[in-house]
Amino acid sequence: MITKPYFSYYLTSFNNQSHQSHYPWRFSWRNTFINSLEFEGNVNYPSSSNYSNDVSRAISPDFTKCGPVDLPPNAITSPYCCPTLATPFKFIDFKDYIINATYKYKNNSSIRVRRAAHLVDDEFIAKLEKGIAIMKSLPNDDPRNFIQQAKVHCAYCNGGYPQKHPFQDQKIDVHRSWLFFPFHRFYIYFFERILGTLIGDPSFALPYWNWDSIQGMQIPSYFTTPNSSLYHKLRHYKHMPPHLVDLNYDILSPKIRTQDQQISYNLAFMYKQMVLANTKELFMGSPYRLGDPAQPGPGSVELAPHNTIHDWLGAVDTPNHEDMGTFYTAARDPIFYAHHSNVDRLWELWTKLEGGRRDYRDDPNWLDSKFFFYDENLNLVRVKVRDCLDTKLLGYVYEEVDLPWLNVNPKPRRTKMQREAKKSSILASKPITKFPFVLDSKVSIIVKRPRKLRSKEEKEQEEEVLVIEVTELQSYENVKFDVHIDDDEDMLSDENHAEFVGTFVSLPHGNHGHKSNTRFMVGISKVLENLEAEEDDHIVVTLVPMIGKGDVTIGRINIQFMSK
Ligand code: C2O
Repeated sequence: MITKPYFSYYLTSFNNQSHQSHYPWRFSWRNTFINSLEFEGNVNYPSSSNYSNDVSRAISPDFTKCGPVDLPPNAITSPYCCPTLATPFKFIDFKDYIINATYKYKNNSSIRVRRAAHLVDDEFIAKLEKGIAIMKSLPNDDPRNFIQQAKVHCAYCNGGYPQKHPFQDQKIDVHRSWLFFPFHRFYIYFFERILGTLIGDPSFALPYWNWDSIQGMQIPSYFTTPNSSLYHKLRHYKHMPPHLVDLNYDILSPKIRTQDQQISYNLAFMYKQMVLANTKELFMGSPYRLGDPAQPGPGSVELAPHNTIHDWLGAVDTPNHEDMGTFYTAARDPIFYAHHSNVDRLWELWTKLEGGRRDYRDDPNWLDSKFFFYDENLNLVRVKVRDCLDTKLLGYVYEEVDLPWLNVNPKPRRTKMQREAKKSSILASKPITKFPFVLDSKVSIIVKRPRKLRSKEEKEQEEEVLVIEVTELQSYENVKFDVHIDDDEDMLSDENHAEFVGTFVSLPHGNHGHKSNTRFMVGISKVLENLEAEEDDHIVVTLVPMIGKGDVTIGRINIQFMSK
């Protein structure tokens, strides 16, 4: 369907390593590539007046209205992350893109296999290095250029796009909501397609940084070889291999642990973030529809290990832990794509846990949420969430490896007697919490349970969820607070015990100077079983500010039941 003679010419020129001299699109790609396309799927961008009849509340960026993003203070790049646009504005729909792409795969009779980053061979590493090197060498305004790709993330993550009319005052953010997994799936998908095409290998698949496995808990060493295109300077100098990643990393007070301790903490933590997050809200994040303010509520894995690893990698001597430690620069580090490949794999794994878990696929507003990306042929493609739910249709699968965290199920730190004694003394002292309050020090709150001793069937249908309303007073700082249930304030449990139930983690971001409201949720049915507290009328929730004391207010805490 697409034949672009100069495109193959251009590919050849890369294969001959003489690409520096050939840039057929440099002056004209906007007109030549985009305007010459005759796709049936080409639709003119609807004007805002069309929307009064549109009952869908699916989020869609107003792509032509991309504006400067809001950055944290002392940002090290400019706030202009918008891609160059073709005039007149044109795009193709994903179905027209994939018909062509699928055809190519069929000819190659191959599905791309994303392999664990620590298990790939030298030939693979050489391809990855070459692809990134080519992307870095492309002209600055070529959408396939490495920095242009990083800017896509910046624009979608730091409020570059307004929602559609009449909600143009709301800026879109793909974090902290049900858009988190699908956006990043598409984002690295097109990155992978571009990279594979540039090296002339359409079967090329990104590696995944398998930080949830014991052998994968350090940065894959080939990302740290100076002079490699995969090397990146702005990283935390102490976290080079063989240093193990702390999946629950605390940038203010990094813990000192032996390797064995770190491994067992990481695996227990993974279990909580994956297995205990057993409803769509808990794992995928909260619904986010047209007209809604951004960041309604993040899912478990997004907060950690996703955010914590961003933090763990960012440099210590940059103002906001650039590059990985803040979203506007994160995708400038080549390891970003291997990190997100693993995040994407965890989504894929989650949907299959315990016989299959339910995501939002019966909600048309989720399914029809849209994004725009440039593909490997320089076409702008409009995608919908519904297009990315089956990775096989996208042409890739993940290499299967052991899941050492799958059955960890951490036990309580203390005996039942100790727990009950502590709890009754707290209940007897009846601390009264007035909401909202500023979280500036450790605090224990008594939360009433609307139902108790639920039957097995009830528990199979609905999860008991602790919901915490969080307001960030300003969004320019790191924030982290941990949540414990029925624990001992004076001797708190770690990740490897049942009393530690979750962590809220926020990276420095811009929010147009506003406060941002979100909600943090933790599933507690299994925790209460493990703590033998299913008969209790109340739970004691301890909030422990770790980073950003006083930067967050807690609006309300309650228990809700969410269907599985
Ligand atoms: Cu959009 Cu890892 O972030």
